[in-house]
Amino acid sequence: MIQVKLELNQLYGFISKDEILQYERQIYNAYRKVYHKTGAGNDFLGWVELPSQTSDNFLEQIQQHATLLRAQSDIFVVVGIGGSYLGARAVIEALSNHFSQLSSDYPHPYIVYAGQNISEDYLADLLKILDEKDYSMAVISKSGTTTEPAIAFRILRRHLEKKYGKEAARQRIVAITDQHRGALKQLADSESYVSYVVPDDVGGRYSVLSPVGLLPIAVAGIDIQALVEGARKMEKYSRAANNIHGNPIAMYAAARHALYQSGKTIEILVNYEPRMQYMTEWFKQLFGESEGKEHKGIFPAGVNFTTDLHSMGQYIQEGLRNIFETVISIESSDQELRIPQEETDLDQLNYIAGKRLSEVNRMAELGTIVAHVDGAVPNIRILLPKINADVLGQLIYFFEMSCALSGYMLNINPFDQPGVEAYKTNMFALLGKKGFETKTAELRKRLNI
Ligand code: PA5
Repeated sequence: MIQVKLELNQLYGFISKDEILQYERQIYNAYRKVYHKTGAGNDFLGWVELPSQTSDNFLEQIQQHATLLRAQSDIFVVVGIGGSYLGARAVIEALSNHFSQLSSDYPHPYIVYAGQNISEDYLADLLKILDEKDYSMAVISKSGTTTEPAIAFRILRRHLEKKYGKEAARQRIVAITDQHRGALKQLADSESYVSYVVPDDVGGRYSVLSPVGLLPIAVAGIDIQALVEGARKMEKYSRAANNIHGNPIAMYAAARHALYQSGKTIEILVNYEPRMQYMTEWFKQLFGESEGKEHKGIFPAGVNFTTDLHSMGQYIQEGLRNIFETVISIESSDQELRIPQEETDLDQLNYIAGKRLSEVNRMAELGTIVAHVDGAVPNIRILLPKINADVLGQLIYFFEMSCALSGYMLNINPFDQPGVEAYKTNMFALLGKKGFETKTAELRKRLNI
């Protein structure tokens, strides 16, 4: 049984159920494009059956490799950018102690990330820490040619080889890349790194349930079997439901499409749990890179409440009315913390003494939803019973399929990202890469440098 539920009650003041159901035919067609592989980008649909096609044996193999890497590492560095790191980070942060790096008895290794920026300070700080710690790393790049992780890997590999010697360093590097192509593939082959394959038909932002996400997640000590099992449940559910009626995946896609058609062009994903922050980042990439093309698409944003109620709350309540919210609502937490009674009650909190923090957080959530709805911000709620690997696996597949359906409803290719190339071309030209000479001259003139 799937545990991800959709609640649209606070939407119906803006869009009626009938208005959403009028997209029944479009949802049907979008589902056909996905399952019959007849839509744009149909050579990138490997994610659809990835959970069911991933064998338990393969998961066990990854788990065993992860155990070896864990044993030799205080720190595990995940080198990648975009879809090659966000999914892993989303799951790892959602399921780890918030302060694991400060805890002496927390199971090692501590996971850190590199190659997701080109900051000199960031990498220099990391190298100082790595000087003192035992570490291993995964370098993840489907294309094997992305500049940010390539730079970080070049520097980290040099550091690792200096620290352990070339031979021992080899045992501490895992490469996750294309089966046939790319500079990383060539390097991994020539250096005999243990390698995993990013399937040809799985794009970066849909790759978290492939070795791209699974290996780092397993190194973090998370049960990848439960994660994939959760996704398998949603995969099975989606295929059986495959129409709009009673199907939260399709209803979510149709509801956000109806909102978009009514002028709501920004979706704010809201969480009330800091551990979900990177799930929001992953969501932003998934929907932003999939939908934002041909001058179309909902702009995916994210906030962390109640923190951001004290920064973005004002805008959401009273700013431009082109936004809607999707709240990730988590019903229960395994840990319990109650507000103590105080004799003096100077802070005037005795009226909630004895209550759990989760209850207060829940009332903040419900109160905010009503306030924002009253302020003309339509609200969608995605209900999760709790945060665990199984539920996150379901949620990941839920978003992946909704995103594909949403993209097809917009009549765009949800699986390419042509716009990402523009900045790369300019960066290469400005850095003087061979073959970009004309562009270099043009940019220097424009930038007056
Ligand atoms: O979703 C995508 O395809 C992108 O975000 C990529 O994941 C990102 O650009 C990194 O690419 P690569 O894995 O080829 O280094």
